[in-house]
Amino acid sequence: MRAVVHDTYGPPDVLRLEEVERPIPEDDGVLIRVRATTVTRSDCGWRSGEPFVSRLFTGIRRPRRRILGTELAGEVEAVGAAVTEFAVGDRVFGTSLFGANAEFVCMSESGPLAHMPASMSFEEAAAVCDGVILALGCLRRADLRKGQRIVVYGASGSIGTAGVQLAKHFEAHVTAVCNTKNLELVRSLGADETVDYTQEDFTKNGQTYEVVFDAVGKHSFRRCKGSLKPGGVYLPTDGWLNLLLVLWTSRIGNKRVAMQIPPRYRKQDVVFLEELIEAGHYRAVIDRTYPLEDVVEATRYVETEQKTGNVVLTV
Ligand SMILES: NC(=O)c1ccc[n+]([C@@H]2O[C@H](COP(=O)([O-])OP(=O)(O)OC[C@H]3O[C@@H](n4cnc5c(N)ncnc54)[C@H](OP(=O)(O)O)[C@@H]3O)[C@@H](O)[C@H]2O)c1
Repeated sequence: MRAVVHDTYGPPDVLRLEEVERPIPEDDGVLIRVRATTVTRSDCGWRSGEPFVSRLFTGIRRPRRRILGTELAGEVEAVGAAVTEFAVGDRVFGTSLFGANAEFVCMSESGPLAHMPASMSFEEAAAVCDGVILALGCLRRADLRKGQRIVVYGASGSIGTAGVQLAKHFEAHVTAVCNTKNLELVRSLGADETVDYTQEDFTKNGQTYEVVFDAVGKHSFRRCKGSLKPGGVYLPTDGWLNLLLVLWTSRIGNKRVAMQIPPRYRKQDVVFLEELIEAGHYRAVIDRTYPLEDVVEATRYVETEQKTGNVVLTV
């Protein structure tokens, strides 16, 4: 089968298409013919080997997992002897963490994999899991409740577009912060209020919130602290300093930093997402779609940190 591989850490050009052996499912495994996958910021981190500490998971000198790709949607090609939930021909979507930028990938039946919502195309279904799972992990740390006020900073990214839609599902009052060109988009995702960060600094407008969700890793607890109500929570998606702040603020002060590290990719979250989509409470946001062959170009675009929602690869 064809797969996107890399044997060294480095810029997007280290990626190439190669013929590799098709994986064989274990007894509890499902072989999926991938129809669509994505390039995420996580994939870019694994590929570059930066920050260096990420290599503790992927190999210090060179990548142990040659095939990247976190998200997928496709059809079940074969199942192991013990599989009961899926059958050949089923349309499925999920997140494999590695290996999805390929024609085939194997996943365990009990992994983060579910039946595809009927209303979705493969491209749309491939573009929903990672952002939702990362945003859910953060929002759960804040125990977001009905009527609470949350600001989502970086609302136009993969995690941000998920954060806005999930916070609305949890019946919070959502203020979305993004660039002028994305204001309409975030309103269409359900934001109650919007702030154009090119015109206004939300930390200086006198508003306060129960939760500040920095969905794009560009803000800081120090700058957002004044925008938090007493007992409020700052949710970062990035930054090693924030890990120290999680410990520090759990003991000192009445505003805290909470973070989900490492992210937890669980089946129950993909099933939750499937139900959300079926109920019409969640939609995919796709910026660009490239054929698998153009993975280097797609990756370069993701690394501009300017994508709106998600970047899809069709297989
Ligand atoms: N915790 C984890 O396990 C984990 C996993 C994956 C990613 N991450 C981190 O999570 C963050 C978000 O990832 P993502 O995939 O959602 O990002 P993304 O989709 O690449 O975010 C891009 C979006 O961010 C907006 N943006 C860029 N600079 C901005 C700024 N200064 N202020 C406000 N918005 C800005 C861009 O819109 P504009 O047009 O407005 O610039 C664009 O729409 C990244 O820092 C990534 O490293 C964490």
